[in-house]
Amino acid sequence: MCGIVGYIGHREAYPIVLKGLKRLEYRGYDSTGVAIIQDGDLQVHKKKGKVVELEEAVVGKNMHSTICIGHTRWATHGEPSDRNAHPHLSNNGRLAMLHNGIIENYAQIKQELTNKGYTFKSDTDTEVLLNFIQDIQDNNKSTLEEALRIALKRIVGAYCILLIDQDDPETIIAARKGSPLVIGIGKGEHFLASDASPIIEYTKEVLGNEKQTPFIQKLDMELAAIEKGGYEHFMLKEIFEQPDTIFDCLRGRLLHEQQQIVMAGVDNHIEALTKASRILIVACGTSWHAGLVAEYMIEELCRIPVEVEYASEFRYRNPVIHAGDVIIAISQSGETADTLVALESAKEKGAFIFGVVNAVGSSIARLSHAGAYTHAGPEIGVASTKAFTGQLAVLTMMALKMAKAKGSISDERYSHLVNELASVPKKVKEILADTSKIESIAQQYKGASDFLYLGRGYNFPIALEGALKLKEITYIHAEGYPAAEMKHGPIALVDENLPVVFVATKDMYYDKVVSNIQEIKARKGQVIAVATLGDTVLPTMSDNIMFVPDIDEVIAPLLSVIPLQLLSYYVGTYKGIDVDKPRNLAKSVTVE
Ligand code: AGP
Ligand code: GLU
Repeated sequence: MCGIVGYIGHREAYPIVLKGLKRLEYRGYDSTGVAIIQDGDLQVHKKKGKVVELEEAVVGKNMHSTICIGHTRWATHGEPSDRNAHPHLSNNGRLAMLHNGIIENYAQIKQELTNKGYTFKSDTDTEVLLNFIQDIQDNNKSTLEEALRIALKRIVGAYCILLIDQDDPETIIAARKGSPLVIGIGKGEHFLASDASPIIEYTKEVLGNEKQTPFIQKLDMELAAIEKGGYEHFMLKEIFEQPDTIFDCLRGRLLHEQQQIVMAGVDNHIEALTKASRILIVACGTSWHAGLVAEYMIEELCRIPVEVEYASEFRYRNPVIHAGDVIIAISQSGETADTLVALESAKEKGAFIFGVVNAVGSSIARLSHAGAYTHAGPEIGVASTKAFTGQLAVLTMMALKMAKAKGSISDERYSHLVNELASVPKKVKEILADTSKIESIAQQYKGASDFLYLGRGYNFPIALEGALKLKEITYIHAEGYPAAEMKHGPIALVDENLPVVFVATKDMYYDKVVSNIQEIKARKGQVIAVATLGDTVLPTMSDNIMFVPDIDEVIAPLLSVIPLQLLSYYVGTYKGIDVDKPRNLAKSVTVE
């Protein structure tokens, strides 16, 4: 959510920052701006809208400078507008600052500054912090860095800020708390950004800042991983990458031949995990859906009680946490504020935290006591796809490993599931080999105003995930429900205009789901079924079918979600929606 880029060195700074802002566009934003210093003159250009609009607005202007800071804003305080866009200028006109995050106690400080005669050009919390810094600097005659340190002591909230002073074109001051910042080190130049993507084409040396003493570490990321590689959208590229990303996730861990699963994070803490009196899974959105699948798996295979919590609710309802509790945090970005703060408070209460995270070195990864990366690579599309299947792959391996260690699974079932999991990349490839049927279904239903998604057992969370994907990138209202629960209310919605997507692969609930399909057909609903290849019953009662290869029900979510991702993608693109950057959404939600 929102992005920060800064450059200081010997090159033209503005083009580097502009390109960096474009690389961060995937995070979601509503306005953009840059500041440069030219011969002691501070210049700010900012605009509501996309980065290209700013780029067009400054065409013909002299942007020559070796220092530049840039921002993409995702409004929290004040509507998206030119005047609320960052960077902001201090009242004396000498300082420019941009900020990612929220200053929670800004109102009180604003009042104090107003009483002293300060005025504000924007409605943002950011401009308040900036003038607060100016005020401290003026009163204490301190350096800018000291003034910033003093100011931040009073600040409640999360932030990453970049601050520059027109009299000091050799310095960018950065500070962060709870919001990400990567600092890249070149030869006589420095790059600053919210994540590594704007930096990797210039340097792979970045400053690790998780310790008190900074140290230099190497970035493990390739430029190709963040470019579209021939696909029309990142989302499509990421859906099609799944055979590889799942394979990468299993590689070196699921040792198929030896029938062994090796995961250092789990091995080293197997006692804590298998002896847990209870496992709490904390996550948001798509990651929360992966948590629901894990609940079914861990309860069935390991016989340990599991609760899945929305991170935002978990934090504020003062949950009961016992000494033997294990918390599994699931997050693609590793920066989701709701999840992060929930974990911080659980950690304070003594819980053992295991992170299932995609973004290497992210805040949640650092905060966890142990963990396993999903290794899906950078996910750029706002709608999570390959990160979700990566999460499922990691969680399945964990559940199997724990069950084996605990002795709660038979040898036969264990090796069957290991074999089934190993077959997933190939089977996902089979689904992706021909998408024409899914495209035609999307074409047929793109005009619908509502969708219902139904599933049972392991496929229930997939119904929720299918509905979320559709909402996110097609703006069509969709609800996910357990198929049987449908009778207790949502059935009232069913008529000939309502498409109902059934995730109905062959599992222990299959016959019951078939009855649920009949109930929908009896009320003239349009049935779209995700079915197991070879099923001859569902084609007789469904209006449309999307087939997936046969697989054990524990692993089925890894396959049944794929057609639903594609269905949303095609409906979204047919409706002309920018599926990589749908309205109002941000890639990583770094505010609570
Ligand atoms: C997924 O498509 C969403 N954009 C969103 O629900 C996301 O899963 C959620 O914000 C959690 O993000 P995280 O996995 O990065 O923590
Ligand atoms: N709270 C600030 C604002 O509303 C920063 C938002 C952001 O993180 O982009 O302007």
